[in-house]
Amino acid sequence: MDLEAEFERAVSGEQRVEPRDWMPDGYRKTLIRQIAQHAHSEIIGMQPEGNWISRAPSLRRKAILLAKVQDEAGHGLYLYAATETLGADRGELTENLVNGRQKYSSIFNYPTLSYADVGTIGWLVDGAAICNQVPLCRTSYGPYARAMIRICKEESFHQRQGYELLMTMMSGTDAQRAMVQESVDRFWWPSLMMFGPPDSESANTEQSMKWRIKRNTNDELRQKFVDMTVPQAEKLGVTLPDPALKWNPERGHYDFGQPDWDEFWQVVGGNGPANAQRVAHRRKAHEDGEWVRAAAAAHAARHARQEG
Ligand code: 3HC
Repeated sequence: MDLEAEFERAVSGEQRVEPRDWMPDGYRKTLIRQIAQHAHSEIIGMQPEGNWISRAPSLRRKAILLAKVQDEAGHGLYLYAATETLGADRGELTENLVNGRQKYSSIFNYPTLSYADVGTIGWLVDGAAICNQVPLCRTSYGPYARAMIRICKEESFHQRQGYELLMTMMSGTDAQRAMVQESVDRFWWPSLMMFGPPDSESANTEQSMKWRIKRNTNDELRQKFVDMTVPQAEKLGVTLPDPALKWNPERGHYDFGQPDWDEFWQVVGGNGPANAQRVAHRRKAHEDGEWVRAAAAAHAARHARQEG
């Protein structure tokens, strides 16, 4: 029986692919690429907000932020575990990240310059993540889909806490309201870039959709995010920095302007405002953790000798 044809039939019939199933090398490779970069994004994503834990304005805000940053670490671990079911080595993936051979989400290369950014990241970045990740609960690869179900539940808490933080600031002083607007102005376009390049420039979308790895295209999810976010911005009382933003009754969607795709490719290429800082921080954390890995390996070896 033609394994390839059997695989295509199973996937197009919405059958889940499990670790022990036969799969084309390209499918395995694409999954390791996407899930590893997703995991890298979660881990690097801890840095921008982590920057504000020690400066949160109240114990409540500090506790919420601590819980959120800790969640992101957990998301990274679930996703690295999913790559290991495909035969990837977590140590190698970390080497790929710190040596620039693999990517992470462009959004985390923008600095968090004010406390309002903590709310804006929750509202816009985690909001975009929810739009992009809920469809992945139906991705064809079983371990990835199951990891996403738990991650999406926690993302909705992330988005709500961010929006509530901004609501509180918007009911505060003029200075707080101005801080929120300035933060939204900085994060709106980079949030739209999170969904990837336009479909016309997306090298992976067509095949990933055929393999039911991706369930929607980049542009579809970007549109969904804009449609969801505009009413929230109105309720919040902030303006989104896009003069082209307008409801289009014929389309039943908001028309909106295009992000600066040159900027996007610059940031993806490692030349964003904070790329070097983020990767250097991750590299140092990995190096500082070498003694823990060595101790765990020595303990496991001694345990194996005693068992042997
Ligand atoms: N940042 C960095 N690189 C990006 C990118 C972004 N925002 N968007 C696309 N790219 C890269 C792709 O990785 C690809 O490069 P590669 O072939 O070397 O991997 C190239 O640009 C072309 O893009 P494609 O559209 O062809 O790539 P994909 O089909 O992989 O689509 C994606 C990109 C939409 C990000 C898709 O990979 C995806 O849905 N990934 C899973 C979700 C994810 O990773 N989200 C990232 C944010 S995680 C997060 O937000 C955490 C939350 O807690 C805040």
